[in-house]
Amino acid sequence: MESMSQRSRSAQQLWELDRRHFLHPFEHFESFQEDGSLFMERGSGCELFDSEGKNYLDMLGGLWCTNIGLGREEMVDAIAEQTRKLAYSSTFTDMSNEPAARLAAKIAKLAPGNLNRVHFSTGGSTAIDSAFRLVHFFQQCAGRPDKVHVISRRQSYHGSTYASMSIGYKEADRKHGFKYIEDIVHHISEPDLYRAPNNMDEQAFADHLVKEFENKIDEVGVHRVGAFFAEPIMGAGGVLLPPADYLKRIRQLCTEHDILYVSDEVVTAFGRLGHWFASEDVFGIVPDIITVAKGLSSGYLPIGATIYSDKIHETISTGDASRTYTSGFTYAGHPVCCAAALKNIEIIERENLLEHASRVGAYFGQKLGELKEMKLVGDVRGMGLMYCLENVLDRSTKATFPEEVSISKRISDSAESFGVLVRPVGHLNIMSPPLIITESQIDRAVDCLKEALRRVCKELQQEGWDPV
Ligand SMILES: Cc1ncc(COP(=O)(O)O)c(C=O)c1O
Repeated sequence: MESMSQRSRSAQQLWELDRRHFLHPFEHFESFQEDGSLFMERGSGCELFDSEGKNYLDMLGGLWCTNIGLGREEMVDAIAEQTRKLAYSSTFTDMSNEPAARLAAKIAKLAPGNLNRVHFSTGGSTAIDSAFRLVHFFQQCAGRPDKVHVISRRQSYHGSTYASMSIGYKEADRKHGFKYIEDIVHHISEPDLYRAPNNMDEQAFADHLVKEFENKIDEVGVHRVGAFFAEPIMGAGGVLLPPADYLKRIRQLCTEHDILYVSDEVVTAFGRLGHWFASEDVFGIVPDIITVAKGLSSGYLPIGATIYSDKIHETISTGDASRTYTSGFTYAGHPVCCAAALKNIEIIERENLLEHASRVGAYFGQKLGELKEMKLVGDVRGMGLMYCLENVLDRSTKATFPEEVSISKRISDSAESFGVLVRPVGHLNIMSPPLIITESQIDRAVDCLKEALRRVCKELQQEGWDPV
């Protein structure tokens, strides 16, 4: 056994290596230079253990992804077995492997409508990128070569490659000097009912958003709009639930105008809302393309997929015999990642995790609802196992704290000190726990959040703020 001082010496060394050499995704340079990283060493179920042995209840589910929970021996065995048998083999052109073929067929079976075709990728961003390229290829093959423009929504997050980051539009991410595709990507408003203009009610807000979409099509030109991209529930943008019928009406307009509807289910698929896919089962729409990642393997290995309709496939694969689909990655249909995804799906089925997620999701919503009475909490919203607290200074005007107060970071730091991880995003705290979470773990998380909110509120009052 390592002694405590050896342990902390080697932990310190690792911390320093990380700080010096690892540029983290979304690193904030100044605070990182000072604080470095919190190292996680071990995980089991919904719990994480840091390098000092401290235990945390992971209400983030990793990053919306550890659906079946961590440390599953069955997953380890499935991954090891496939690695021994065939660690890698290309899937380019006309080669394949058993797990990839089986997984494609399984996804096709679970997906809605006639979305029976699967193009594998390495994660969510590359699934979105692949969808963007598929839109262009399809519209070209369909004889509509000008339909290269796409419409998506402000505050959406679709990934971090050049195309996926351009399709998304989180205000806070756009401030920092990167370049984006601007000529063929257009954005409309996010469906934020809490901050709907002129306090519109849900129906009026849906009308307003649909009208804006129609106007955007007119502005860009109907002959030039090739696709609409949207998450069923906008995740990182603040767990924004679509107002009644809004998605259905947008779907309808897309069908009328030969605009492909791309539903980004990187977060919502594989159980987060209690269904394999949310588009049809929760929101009553069958998209043309669905992108998935995260819960597909519960984060055990990186994998994503762009699932699309037979109709699209027929158009792209018939006609010009010299046509080749020049899109795809070295690790597309990676046998080990596909074996992990197959085992993950098997576990979700065998343990009825979709039903469990629906049941505990309802409990989670009810418990979090108790926080609505508290100062700082302007809104509590979500569905299934994705929820968000919107923190405000004044609950009647919905005014927020200035950015430098770092309100959600203070709340998440306080919750972390009690051993509960929630995610700070702007002035929001977001949660997306593993599907296996229990009611008693939910109680623990909500109790800690209550205490964190009380403490932060008191600190702020001592600093001269007056949250109301
Ligand atoms: C809705 C959505 N789409 C795409 C992505 C990008 O996925 P990845 O980080 O696996 O590339 C994310 C990541 O959080 C996401 O939330």
